[in-house]
Amino acid sequence: MRLDKFLVDCGVGSRTEVKKYLKNKAVTVNGKVETSAKCQVDEKADKVTFQGQVLQHETFVYYLLNKPPGVISATEDARHRTVLDLLDDLARRKQVFPVGRLDIDTHGLLLLTNNGDLAHAMLSPKKHVDKIYQAQVRGIMTEQDVERFRQGIELKDMRCLPAELEIMELDEANHTSLVRITIREGKFHQVKRMVAACGKEVTDLQRLSMGPLVLDENLPIGMFRRLTEAERASLSIFGVVL
Ligand code: URA
Repeated sequence: MRLDKFLVDCGVGSRTEVKKYLKNKAVTVNGKVETSAKCQVDEKADKVTFQGQVLQHETFVYYLLNKPPGVISATEDARHRTVLDLLDDLARRKQVFPVGRLDIDTHGLLLLTNNGDLAHAMLSPKKHVDKIYQAQVRGIMTEQDVERFRQGIELKDMRCLPAELEIMELDEANHTSLVRITIREGKFHQVKRMVAACGKEVTDLQRLSMGPLVLDENLPIGMFRRLTEAERASLSIFGVVL
């Protein structure tokens, strides 16, 4: 690939910035200063440095975002801020997108990547990837509801796969419940609709996990980080090139 593309891909800067760095002799290829943007490099074999640091070329990037309420899980939108607005320039240059959607008012774990095969595998209805949500509910959830979830809740247009409802706390005085729900599919407003089918209402929804990825307690709401090597390796269960 062209050296300027390599440098942009590595997050060194925009194409224009990269051209300036090249002119200023900040880049070497295999030990020699290189000033031409058109120079061809082999991203696997050639050793490229910028300001003395060796650059590692990545095709795929993976971000864990603790999505806040109020932003939408899309790459662009005319009216609302999107999850991409919360990431860095490198993520946008790498054209990451969210793997699945959370409602605008839902918060918690969201994976963003530019690896289309991985997204496809994780979202495939055949793969039945577990997603765990914590929900604050208006109303008291019961053992009967637990059983209904286990059997597969009947919605207007579909029957849900068996799901787990775990009652964490009941507040009889305020008539509220805190629950954990595990679903293996990802239909529109699914958790809210399942709870509504039991005659109660989700007032707050947070995603805690998706497959092997777990929301990082140390990641403040609205913040993101790259996946760790271990997290990235855990995605190998999906059988795609990472
Ligand atoms: N289920 C919902 O109802 N909303 C979400 O954002 C995710 C799952």
